[in-house]
Amino acid sequence: MRIRAETIIPAKKKTPVLCAFCFEDTNVPIGLERLDKKIDQTILESVRENKGKKNSIAIIHSHKELPSEKILIAGIGKKNQITSDVIRDVVGNVTKKINELGIKEFSIIVPEKILNDNDQVISSIVEGANLSLYHFDLFKKEKYNKKESDLTLLTSNDKSQKIIKNSIIISDAVKFTRDVANLPPNECPPMKLGEIAKKIASQNKMKCTIFSKNEIKSKGLGGVTAVGQGSKNEPKFIILEYRNGKKEQKPILLVGKAVTFDTGGISLKPGEKMDEMKFDKCGGCTVLGIMKAIAELKLTINVVAVIPSVENMPSGEAFRPGDIIKLFNGKTAEILNTDAEGRLILADGIAYGIKHYQPSSVMDFATLTGACIVALGTNVAGIVSNNTKFVSKIKTASSKTSEEIWELPINDDYMDMVKSKVADIRNIGMGRAAGTITAAAFLAHSVGNVPWVHFDIAGTAWIQPSTKNKSYNSHGATGFGVRLVVNYLMNQK
Ligand code: BES
Ligand code: ZN
Ligand code: ZN
Repeated sequence: MRIRAETIIPAKKKTPVLCAFCFEDTNVPIGLERLDKKIDQTILESVRENKGKKNSIAIIHSHKELPSEKILIAGIGKKNQITSDVIRDVVGNVTKKINELGIKEFSIIVPEKILNDNDQVISSIVEGANLSLYHFDLFKKEKYNKKESDLTLLTSNDKSQKIIKNSIIISDAVKFTRDVANLPPNECPPMKLGEIAKKIASQNKMKCTIFSKNEIKSKGLGGVTAVGQGSKNEPKFIILEYRNGKKEQKPILLVGKAVTFDTGGISLKPGEKMDEMKFDKCGGCTVLGIMKAIAELKLTINVVAVIPSVENMPSGEAFRPGDIIKLFNGKTAEILNTDAEGRLILADGIAYGIKHYQPSSVMDFATLTGACIVALGTNVAGIVSNNTKFVSKIKTASSKTSEEIWELPINDDYMDMVKSKVADIRNIGMGRAAGTITAAAFLAHSVGNVPWVHFDIAGTAWIQPSTKNKSYNSHGATGFGVRLVVNYLMNQK
């Protein structure tokens, strides 16, 4: 959809639909305070009916009293409960409604001072509108190719053009992440992810390196080798380098788990919902989306992305419970469950990235543990870190973007839970205790002292039955993490 800004007074805007927000228990929608008397009456009546309840929509005709044909009043709930996410959600619903009605253009009156950060009102409107129309119809004969309605934002914010442009880049990157993550496993083996990475590298100023199965093995990436050896679809180790900061500035390292399908391997998963394990590549897809966004935003930073990609299959060549493998970090790992494969490829990705690029910090993203869903549900991602300052910056980005996170602890007691009797470490913890943390403890062996935040996105990467309904999310992958991390990176110098 096309989104632009205009400074015109709302009452003078000629548009098919003029949209205004209305708080619960207030009389007049924001921005429509000084209108013609006749219009005032009709607006007051519809406001009274809807009471400004969050996500209520009233459409009234302006009967030629105004240049706009219709007025849409969108309830945004209680004043003291307003957040950027209320705006995203409401605008998503409004955008869907307008598109259903086949209206060519609609204008939203941008309310001033309803959030602490005025610019964020605009970015939330753009994100809500752009993301709400997302459809994954690549494999359907009947395409969703309806012409999308155009949106005009009526605002006097002089930064509006820039905010709109950036928010479109970011929400398009979220849609890109969803598109890749939604690909079915037969259409998206590790090689395909490599091709996608190459494409975004060539479209932007990025270097892309991809290691083949043999290179992965000869470089000592033992975790990736072991997990990938059971599948005909060979593993790929994907590296993207974006360098637009000072030469001497150390890069930020992003690592994403990209298991294109996780059957569990020899420790086979139960059949129920196994299809959802096509989403086990979501960590890698999030990293791809972040890279695309920062390159298009031309951020003046250096970032390296490492995406180890494998298919975890049972076969005559597959790795087994009982195997002892050597990871890139030099440590031996006893395999006790081949379904705990994500930490093996991530441990390699993190150690390789740290050794070869000496990053200033590391973030990794993975649909790593079912335990994270048990602990936090499907609306909040788990994070584990070795650096409180880093976490506090990530929490700020989380609250700005409404991508919710919750920090879980890590200490030596958890580290002890992944010690092995026959190797340096083991790939599962002790029974069902603290499954998300013991997975992170396994990764910590690759991290050392570099400031690190691990994101377990098992619950938030795609829509599950207990996922909260949001108008800007739709069936399938959510692209969780892209907005949060891009927001964090935009505030890095
Ligand atoms: N990809 C799964 C984690 C997962 C499961 C994510 C369900 C989202 C929904 C991961 O590879 C896995 O299977 N982990 C095991 C670890 C266990 C064997 C220690 C798990 O969580 O059960
Ligand atoms: Zn698994
Ligand atoms: Zn997995």
